[in-house]
Amino acid sequence: MTSKRNILVTSALPYANGPIHLGHLVEYIQTDIWARFQRLRDNSCYYVCADDAHGTPIMLRARQDGITPEALIAATQKEHEADFADFLVDFDNYYSTHSEENKDFASSIYLKLREEGHIHTKTIKQAYDPEAEMFLPDRFIKGTCPKCGADDQYGDNCEVCGATYDPTELKNPVSAVSGATPVEKDSEQYFFKLSDFSEMLQQWLKEGHVQSEVANKLDEWFEEGLKDWDISRNAPYWGFEIPDAPGKYFYVWMDAPMGYMASFKNFCDKNDINFDDYWAADSKNELYHFIGKDIARFHTLFWPAVLDGAGYRKPTAVFCHGFLTVNGQKMSKSRGTFIKARTYLDNLNPEYLRYYYTAKLSSGVDDIDLNLEDFMQRVNSDLVGKVVNIASRCAGFITKKFDKQLSAELPEPELYDDIVAAGEQIAEHFENREYNKAVREIMAQADKANVYIDENKPWVLIKEEGREDEVQKICTQGLNMFRLLMTYLKPILPATAEKSEAFLNTKLKWASISQPLLSHEINKFKPLLTRIEKEQIEAMTDASTENMPTQEETLTGPLADDPIADEISFDDFARIDLRIAKIVKAEHVEGADKLLQLTLDIGGITKNVFAGIKSAYSPEDLEGKLTVMVANLAPRKMRFGLSEGMVLAAGPGGKDLFILSPDDGAAPGMKVK
Ligand code: MSP
Ligand code: ZN
Repeated sequence: MTSKRNILVTSALPYANGPIHLGHLVEYIQTDIWARFQRLRDNSCYYVCADDAHGTPIMLRARQDGITPEALIAATQKEHEADFADFLVDFDNYYSTHSEENKDFASSIYLKLREEGHIHTKTIKQAYDPEAEMFLPDRFIKGTCPKCGADDQYGDNCEVCGATYDPTELKNPVSAVSGATPVEKDSEQYFFKLSDFSEMLQQWLKEGHVQSEVANKLDEWFEEGLKDWDISRNAPYWGFEIPDAPGKYFYVWMDAPMGYMASFKNFCDKNDINFDDYWAADSKNELYHFIGKDIARFHTLFWPAVLDGAGYRKPTAVFCHGFLTVNGQKMSKSRGTFIKARTYLDNLNPEYLRYYYTAKLSSGVDDIDLNLEDFMQRVNSDLVGKVVNIASRCAGFITKKFDKQLSAELPEPELYDDIVAAGEQIAEHFENREYNKAVREIMAQADKANVYIDENKPWVLIKEEGREDEVQKICTQGLNMFRLLMTYLKPILPATAEKSEAFLNTKLKWASISQPLLSHEINKFKPLLTRIEKEQIEAMTDASTENMPTQEETLTGPLADDPIADEISFDDFARIDLRIAKIVKAEHVEGADKLLQLTLDIGGITKNVFAGIKSAYSPEDLEGKLTVMVANLAPRKMRFGLSEGMVLAAGPGGKDLFILSPDDGAAPGMKVK
């Protein structure tokens, strides 16, 4: 027996300006399962997290909502905590980076780094919004990509061609805060000399504290040379002021990872645990950070360097995961696949998602896909069809015919031992975060158990005279195998495991699996998990698309056959010049079944347009009325003549096509807003 391990794990701290969504949950579920697994194996494992409560986006969001940042982060934290609790994510402590403890850590770490000569100042030029009177983070500058010319791109990278650049390179830059054109302004900033830690980091990375894919990516950064890291921001900023630097604040990433320490410190103080045992430079305890691949650089370069420089221990490992896609595509609000944790919970059992993610997660950084059809099938066939089914097929006989008593021996102890033996492999997969392999192995054991019951058919034997004993034994064997499976699944399905414990009248412990439950009284079986119905998934996607157009295949109605076209930028839209047009003449077109020829006046300019609205209007109804036209559409040569624009119409077609407003006094040529 190896001695008990002392482990501290964290998940990345979610930003306090938005709801938890199914993408985030990949990480919190992954971490929670690992922590629960460790505890199930009798190790000590604390799991802490917090809201990441600082930074410009939170400041601006609060401003927009007309509340204080304090009020915003308090409300968000409450929602986050409720979402996590309902997804059975079992933190030992959930805190906030906007806390006294965190202020202390950020400041003391900074001062230590300064004392050791790792901090210096430099005057740099940065984008400044003269209207909003603030320096602009890259994300709050938009403009035309210098590489490919795509409009409406962020100041740091282009989503169209993938180029990364400096915001000063952006063409036609505008501030997303005020719309003003940013100017460049000098200011003094504080820098952390990351290159002081170059050798230490290279050595550390060689020691296998990060996955190989991440190490390879880091090599690229090393080749470019480690740049100084700007850890300060100018007021106005929502965060902690830097000691001895009035008007300068710690950049949000300079107090965020300290939030791990702050949350743990807060927990230690409440529970009389020694903080230093986990964070001192010579700590023998294990520390793991679970993160997404987008924030790997912060956790594998800056963070270990900062910890090292400030005299703390470095993480035992940083575990990086990939991103969630839904039905094969990036989660997107406009596609309606941006599913909030709460929307899911309103419709579906959290354990379904916990199971599905587990079945898909590996130790790598590959993205994982939530295919909703596959999700339903997988949960129904594995959890309901295979696992729960074993219990429901055996429980009734034991309770009704044998006074809830399990038999004194197993009819097939080898089969039982076989499933016990598989436990070591399963444990290894959990330990290595090869969850998909763990699930595959557990389901292979479930298959064996089902074959056993299918072959022994207790429901047939019970009708035969004098074979009761056998039935009791078969069902005892079945329930004991179920108990093993539920023990293995306990980190993934904590609620179902708890119900199973009540039913089996025993705690599910990994350490007790080798001992079957014999001559033991069980309790009445209550349904453990029900099937997912298609309607539940539809209700969830519907609720996610309420206010947003979508092109999901799950759609019915016109959008299903004719999905919304590729997104256009606001600039694309703004290029369409919509004008009020007066129909001065409307005529039939020789030889055309659908067209009317319209002469439109847009205030001194006359346009000739062929419009397919003959089914709904006769020419005399139209003359003198107003419509809306696309005035800058390139002229198109048609069989009947040149068409110089389009009129906009609504309605299902045929007789019901509406293009008009009565002449309400709007001037022809007026821009439509
Ligand atoms: N606040 C920072 C983390 C600071 S840690 C000291 C942050 N917050 S976040 O809310 O944007 O993301 C929190 C975690 O969720 C990150 O690890 C991120 O990678 C993960 N995910 C966010 N969206 C995700 C997906 N769509 N898919 C998988 N993980 C995702 O980053
Ligand atoms: Zn580009």
